[in-house]
Amino acid sequence: MSTRVLYLLASAAPPVQYADRAIRDAQARGWDVCLGLSPTAAEWAADRLSELAELTGHPVRVAHRAPGETSTWPPGDVTLITPATLNTVNAIALGLTPTWVAAHACEAIGKRWPLIVMPCVNSAYATHPQFGRSLNVLREAGVRVLYGAPDGFVPNEPGQGRPEAYPWHLALDAADRSWA
Ligand SMILES: Cc1cc2nc3c(=O)[nH]c(=O)nc-3n(C[C@H](O)[C@H](O)[C@H](O)COP(=O)(O)O)c2cc1C
Repeated sequence: MSTRVLYLLASAAPPVQYADRAIRDAQARGWDVCLGLSPTAAEWAADRLSELAELTGHPVRVAHRAPGETSTWPPGDVTLITPATLNTVNAIALGLTPTWVAAHACEAIGKRWPLIVMPCVNSAYATHPQFGRSLNVLREAGVRVLYGAPDGFVPNEPGQGRPEAYPWHLALDAADRSWA
């Protein structure tokens, strides 16, 4: 049986500094993991990009490809956008492609590829009217949105986030289920 391929695409919320844990967990579950980061997330992880590439065995993707440039990643079976910032959630829902992460998610929706989004927002961001609208748009488009207990991210009060406790395992559980 060929290895299943997980595109793990992260935007700039503090749990991204623990992406290596999620990668190791996914690999232990039998996924070949390819890591993509928004430019801001990549800036935060600048001193670890080569370590993360080595861990996955694939280059970390950050930028849009140039015309004619081909991807060195294997085709993905499931895409996880996690942690998904307010900015990235809204961009995808509005069909905006300011980053490669958002662009890939928009394409995945159009192509009906399996797509899972787990936000990471505090309760202030969560009450912005566009956030709820964006989650509804994504769900209506067939995206699996992991938000709220018991199977998704629960927002924290501003300044009370515990990035080390971000529930990556819920996203990986959903990826496992979507491939089962
Ligand atoms: C220390 C710090 C923590 C942040 N935490 C969050 C967060 O948990 N959720 C969120 O939506 N944005 C958070 N932001 C804001 C995003 O990083 C910012 O909106 C950024 O433009 C998102 O870009 P991206 O979606 O392309 O990664 C944080 C910013 C900083 C500096």
